[in-house]
Amino acid sequence: MNLKELNMHYKSSLEFSIKLSGSLICLALLFVQSARSQNSVNIDIDTNKPIAHVSKEMWGIFFEDINFAADGGLYAELVKNRSFEFPMPLMGWKQLKTGGKQASLLIVNHQKAGSSHARHAAIDLIEGPGSFVLSNEGFRGIGLEKDKQYRFSIAACSFSDSVKIRIEAEDPKNEIVGSAKIDKLTSDWQTYTVIFKCKETTAKARLNVIFEGKGKVEVDMISLFPRETWKNRENGLRADLAQKLADLHPGFMRFPGGCIVEGRELLNRYQWKKTIGPTDGRELLLNRWNVEFAKRSAPDYYQSFGLGFFEYFQFCEDIGASPLPILNCGMACQYNSAEVVSLDQLDPYIQDALDLIDFANGPQTSKWGALRAQLGHPKPFNLRLLGIGNEQWGEQYIERFKLFAAVLKSKYPEVKLISSAGPSPNGTMFDLLNKKLREEKAELIDEHYYRDPEWFLKNVNRYDTYERKDSKVFAGEYAVHIPDNMQKDTHAESHNTIWSALCEAAFMTGLERNADVVQMASYAPLLASIEAWQWRPDLIWFDNLHSVATPNYYVQQMFAVNKGDVVLSTLSKGKPLAGQDSIYATSSIDTVKGNIIVKLINTSLNARTVNLNLSGSNQLKDMITWIELSDKDKSAFNSLDNPQAVKPEMKTIKLGKRKTFELKGLSANVLVLPLSKKSNFNKN
Ligand code: AHR
Repeated sequence: MNLKELNMHYKSSLEFSIKLSGSLICLALLFVQSARSQNSVNIDIDTNKPIAHVSKEMWGIFFEDINFAADGGLYAELVKNRSFEFPMPLMGWKQLKTGGKQASLLIVNHQKAGSSHARHAAIDLIEGPGSFVLSNEGFRGIGLEKDKQYRFSIAACSFSDSVKIRIEAEDPKNEIVGSAKIDKLTSDWQTYTVIFKCKETTAKARLNVIFEGKGKVEVDMISLFPRETWKNRENGLRADLAQKLADLHPGFMRFPGGCIVEGRELLNRYQWKKTIGPTDGRELLLNRWNVEFAKRSAPDYYQSFGLGFFEYFQFCEDIGASPLPILNCGMACQYNSAEVVSLDQLDPYIQDALDLIDFANGPQTSKWGALRAQLGHPKPFNLRLLGIGNEQWGEQYIERFKLFAAVLKSKYPEVKLISSAGPSPNGTMFDLLNKKLREEKAELIDEHYYRDPEWFLKNVNRYDTYERKDSKVFAGEYAVHIPDNMQKDTHAESHNTIWSALCEAAFMTGLERNADVVQMASYAPLLASIEAWQWRPDLIWFDNLHSVATPNYYVQQMFAVNKGDVVLSTLSKGKPLAGQDSIYATSSIDTVKGNIIVKLINTSLNARTVNLNLSGSNQLKDMITWIELSDKDKSAFNSLDNPQAVKPEMKTIKLGKRKTFELKGLSANVLVLPLSKKSNFNKN
């Protein structure tokens, strides 16, 4: 090759390499650009454009005595079968004799007309040393904590001066961790109370009630409570569980269920009037979840109603939640007996509803208002919501609902009635109920969704095109159910994964965006005992000493605490952001606190960048709060052993001009942007 040729070659290869590197640069630029457009999402929020008012009750809680949520859970009583009223009167109790003691025990039924606590134990102690012991196993053991105080009480009578009662709390290693003595007994029935301090922490204690001396002694209502209950009330609630519920800041609390309202048959339906007044007068009832599922059978599951309607109302008041009782509408569970009361016999059921409103709201001079005052609450409970039937369906429900509505609305038009859309969110059963209830101008229709993750993601737009007139929606029971074969972990809590929580969060952005249609929503069920559950997933898991908030709990909390009261227009390329690039978004304004709140859910495994374009006359402060719940692993969950595996992090950051945020893969995010001046939106 000569010089000329070499020059030519050099030039052309230079041109080629320039061309090549130029094309490579273009390609690289294109790649960067396409990667950027794939990973960055523009969100237009018009801070002057309200699209819906968010009700005070938007995010609430659903309480049902399932999974030992009440007895053995929120209700702090530690003794199971405290008054021998279980059909097997000594279920949960063991009789022991020490030191060669001779004694006999009879369960006496002293049923008088109208008395609901029929039984007590009559013990005959024969002379000699040693003792006779009644030992209670509690609810899968008794949880006691070192240095905490416990209140033991027992109703007793004895004609013998020599009879003495002692109690001992015994741990699984047979160590006595707490003890106390009862004063001299009298021959008339009295309740004796003693307090003891516990020496060691144990989740599995037994309570031994020890009888010594000679003669006859009769006992009933054998009870043990932690002294420290929620608000330190006697007959109170377990403090850690009540606090977890309070920390959700629920707008409402639905109680007492659930199918528990219906009963398997009408005889076993929930009747609120039997749950108020002195606890020893509240008639025990079978818990319908006891042997419902063969694999999770709990034959020792009954309702003592120590947590009854008065306590529910009181708790709602404590936590600032609107009470939402659900009453039986003359129909038992349609999955079980499907028994209905005939229409000409429905009046007592309707009367129960009228009386309940009087109990909650009536003046102290009314029949039921007077009883409320006598029970310690002269002021009304301000009941504004009432459910007629739980998860009912068919023409038989419509007929009964109409009769209830006619009477209740004419007497109490201010109380909103909730009606059932059945167990499924679609299908013939749902369509019939939805159509007929809307014809009746039903105020709030209760829709239930227990579905897989995909259903929740596909249905984020469910309410964008819903009928907006007249009837509104109460999303009364929902939870993402991860199919069993996809979740291999053996922990009971393992179905409450971050993935399920994120799919719920995505769906909830659709509820919030349509807050003019969906006015209330609650995850279900709420509480579950790790050792005695029937149904999962659940929002909070507990054992006898501890409780754990699930990722789903944190999602509920993030939405409820950062609710806002006016939804803002939040669009991406002119459309609601409901899954484009795996991002789901809503925003609202809290006119009271003066914040714009943006909720952003990223269901992709990869991080996503979002650019917020906030228009409107509202000026923002520079420092904002970012709450983030995330995990790299879709199947991550919180267990009682590892309760902090998934939890929200909160940081304060500078907003800056660009308003660009990098959302972690698999994350739920709430941005709280304070306004420089409070907005003066008219919320109505
Ligand atoms: O939340 C558990 C059960 O699911 C409720 O009792 C019932 O309403 C629904 O079927």
